[in-house]
Amino acid sequence: MDYTQTDFIVIGSGLAGLTSALNASKFGNVTLLTKSSLDVSNSYWAQGGIAAAIGSDDCPEFHFNDTIKAGVGLCNPESVKILVEEGVERINELIQLGMKFDLANGAIELGLEGNHTKRRVLHAGGDATGRELVKFVLQHVLQNQRIKANEYSLVLDLLVENNNCYGVRIHNWVTGKSEIITAPAIIIATGGASGMYSRTTNPHSTTGDGIILAYNAGAEISNMEFVQFHPSSLLLDSDETFLISEAVRGEGAHLVNCFGERFMSDKHELAELAPRDVVAYEMHKQYQMEGNRVYLKLDHLDPQKIQRRFSNIYKELLRHNIDLTKDLVPVAPAAHYLVGGIKTGLYGETNINNLYAVGEVSSTGVHGANRLASNSLLECLVFAKRAVEHSLENKFFVKYEPVNYKKYFVDKTKEETYLSYKNKIAVLLSQNVGIIRNESDLNKTLTALNEIYSSFLFEENEYYSLRLMSLITVAQLIIKSALIRKESRGGHRREDYPQLNDQFLCEIIHRVNFDPQIIGLR
Ligand code: SIN
Repeated sequence: MDYTQTDFIVIGSGLAGLTSALNASKFGNVTLLTKSSLDVSNSYWAQGGIAAAIGSDDCPEFHFNDTIKAGVGLCNPESVKILVEEGVERINELIQLGMKFDLANGAIELGLEGNHTKRRVLHAGGDATGRELVKFVLQHVLQNQRIKANEYSLVLDLLVENNNCYGVRIHNWVTGKSEIITAPAIIIATGGASGMYSRTTNPHSTTGDGIILAYNAGAEISNMEFVQFHPSSLLLDSDETFLISEAVRGEGAHLVNCFGERFMSDKHELAELAPRDVVAYEMHKQYQMEGNRVYLKLDHLDPQKIQRRFSNIYKELLRHNIDLTKDLVPVAPAAHYLVGGIKTGLYGETNINNLYAVGEVSSTGVHGANRLASNSLLECLVFAKRAVEHSLENKFFVKYEPVNYKKYFVDKTKEETYLSYKNKIAVLLSQNVGIIRNESDLNKTLTALNEIYSSFLFEENEYYSLRLMSLITVAQLIIKSALIRKESRGGHRREDYPQLNDQFLCEIIHRVNFDPQIIGLR
């Protein structure tokens, strides 16, 4: 098997991966791995923007308070402090490097999103912040001689010995060969898992791959019960959808039901800008009423401003014969962001030496039970730098001794069954592990997953077998955590335990071959 050695391995090409690679390139050679092409990532689709306390009426302390409040008792205050303070520095560095955020009257224009008490959301290309940011950082990555990008490279497993990670085994779809790459620092930045739900704002390829790589290698996985649903995603006849940024509500859009009533006004002091879990839950209740629907309504706002600020959303809606400035836009919640992931310390470090997690794949403690809007791109910038700097201290490096792996292969005859099970899991998650959960539905879903598991002919080192096993395992981790957390907090609501219960001010941690562990706050 081909074998190469490098200084850093970065897995994933969203903002977390690209930024990690760029930071790492200051200290050595980097191999950047992505399972598809470099320009495909979840970050690319981020619309609203990136939050940072740069406004004249704002400061990191206000941003800290809003983040902690959104997290409903489960944020790690130390990580949040790092996020809001270092976040401002990372944004200023990006601007110095040439990143162009949108301006109004010569100053950076700041948007507002749910649960923020100040305007602090920087945006680019109007509502195309993710695309602009990823394009900007990618261009620097592509020009960097020290970064070797391997597209269409699927990471099969992490190489770990005595709790030290020293490399990866990959399958390169271009050469059709498997390879071993080793390095003293391995950074996972593969994004979340919300694409596993049938109704999702994420690409359906966002399936928690990095979480399972780390889990299989012995890493701790935490907070998996917290899946954030974005309230306003376009409702079409099919499950396909399109995100309509919270920033639209930040500019004054209302949410109304089929009677034209603004149902959020008497539910929360921030009305349509209440925390996402609150808005998504109230929308869910509206949809329980026979024949009811929820719409975004903007006809009281300045149409030119809306068209300019949200030009991509405006254009996309026109394709569905909806004029954002005049028409009611049917919306419903969709799975958007996995708050949990690979448990890390303050430097993105995991419980496995030399292994780091950055971005949505990680659980750094900054989001608690519910992520504050637009904090995630900032988390990528802040923790990518910290992870790289921490890894410079890594001492241990295992010398790779060739191993005879069984050949990796694709059994095409499994494809149809795999796809039908993937869809089945997506529907099960959306129906039973969505905004509202209960013990009976969660248990039923576990049983259904077991049935899927028993009826598939799994084969070692086979593509569809590994894919399906990964989907089942991610779903099980979410459900098992959701069963343990017998309360309703942030992005996790149990109709059988509708109250907050401070006994559950705790973290639920999974580790392969161990029972879930419930530990006090970090
Ligand atoms: C949005 O634009 O509403 C999404 C922003 C985010 O999820 O942080």
